[in-house]
Amino acid sequence: MAAHPLSVAVIGAGMAGRSHAAGYRAVNTVFGAGLPPIRLAAVADANTALAEDAARRYGFDRALSGWEQVAEDPAIDAVSIVVGNDLHRPIAEALIAAGKHVLCEKPLAGSLDDARAMVAAEQAADVVTAVGYTFRRSPAIAAIREHVRNGELGDLSLFDGRYWCDYACDPRGPLTWRYRGGPGSGALADIGAHVIDVAQLLCGPIGSVSGGALATQVDRRPLPLGAVIGHGTAPVSDETAAVENEDTAVFSARFRSGLAASFSVSRTAFGMPNGLAFDVFGLTGRAGFDQHRPAEYLFDDTAPAPRTRGARQVIVGPHAPYFAGGYPMEAPGVGGGNAEMFTYQCRAFLDQVVGTPDPLPPNATFADGLHTMQVIDAVVRSAHADGAAVPVPQS
Ligand SMILES: NC(=O)c1ccc[n+]([C@@H]2O[C@H](COP(=O)([O-])OP(=O)(O)OC[C@H]3O[C@@H](n4cnc5c(N)ncnc54)[C@H](O)[C@@H]3O)[C@@H](O)[C@H]2O)c1
Repeated sequence: MAAHPLSVAVIGAGMAGRSHAAGYRAVNTVFGAGLPPIRLAAVADANTALAEDAARRYGFDRALSGWEQVAEDPAIDAVSIVVGNDLHRPIAEALIAAGKHVLCEKPLAGSLDDARAMVAAEQAADVVTAVGYTFRRSPAIAAIREHVRNGELGDLSLFDGRYWCDYACDPRGPLTWRYRGGPGSGALADIGAHVIDVAQLLCGPIGSVSGGALATQVDRRPLPLGAVIGHGTAPVSDETAAVENEDTAVFSARFRSGLAASFSVSRTAFGMPNGLAFDVFGLTGRAGFDQHRPAEYLFDDTAPAPRTRGARQVIVGPHAPYFAGGYPMEAPGVGGGNAEMFTYQCRAFLDQVVGTPDPLPPNATFADGLHTMQVIDAVVRSAHADGAAVPVPQS
């Protein structure tokens, strides 16, 4: 008998919503059997033109104008929430109450209170809840995670992470939801959350932060005159409003293991369109990654003789997690793009929904998402206390 289809919907058809829509469309083209047929049920966006465009492009049955219609549709099983962070909580609560599985974009919520409420809903619910930490699905980062977990770097000695973007360099860029909210809701929440999650995926939970410093380079922005997608441009008004959060943040951290780390995050780092990068060092090895070169990573260890030792460029291929079965052409050097990470993320979420064993690495839970927000909150409190050390609660 044919398996009962799994019905999916995407709420939000902006920059990242389209990536989820494209991801669901492709989930049954990767990693072989395991999922039932996927019914692409609906894309919902308050901007109906965007919803209609995404539904048409990615083959979804319906375009809806509100997330409430998704929550009310008993035929929909699993939903991605891909709208501004302040909306995550009410949508997630309604979806969970309606018995739907939820993949919520990062950061988990617009405030710590909202994030705690979402964790309470997660704990009380009998559905899968996950957070969209897309870099967990990078073959290169997953390969580095394996090196770390196998002890191939030896005892870890340093993590240095950065996420440098330049989408906020232009002062004529419109004031969207990304620039509203208090300290911590800017570059830290938008891109810092990713590199913090990667750091914790590799090195375990962060126990404290210090040396927090926040800065805003463009403190007023023009109001948009129409819809803005992601970091895009749009016609703007002569009227401006204050930017309410940070463009740039730096901080130090100590993992609960004792390992020390440094982080820098900026949305005003000129010339860096999407620069998540990190180096992780141990006593006998080193690995480094840069999203601008996503199909490779640097690796060094004590295997070569000293006279030929040095960081080696490893081109991701079938030896890396996600690679085998993850590309139509399974040859070293053919892959590593952002779109594939969203496909693998949708797949990992639906694998968890149907109980396929061991999505690798695991999906981040809402509790994991809360912890990352607590790290960000500690950075803000450190910045307000002249860089003092601030513990991160053990959640
Ligand atoms: N994982 C990643 O790599 C990644 C990348 C970008 C964004 N994100 C996250 O995705 C989320 C959305 O970001 P984005 O850049 O796509 O934003 P966006 O501004 O491009 O799109 C948001 C969409 O939400 C729609 N919307 C607003 N209110 C709505 C409502 N009440 N009901 C339905 N739709 C509504 C808007 O019309 C807009 O199209 C954020 O949480 C962001 O942090 C994640």
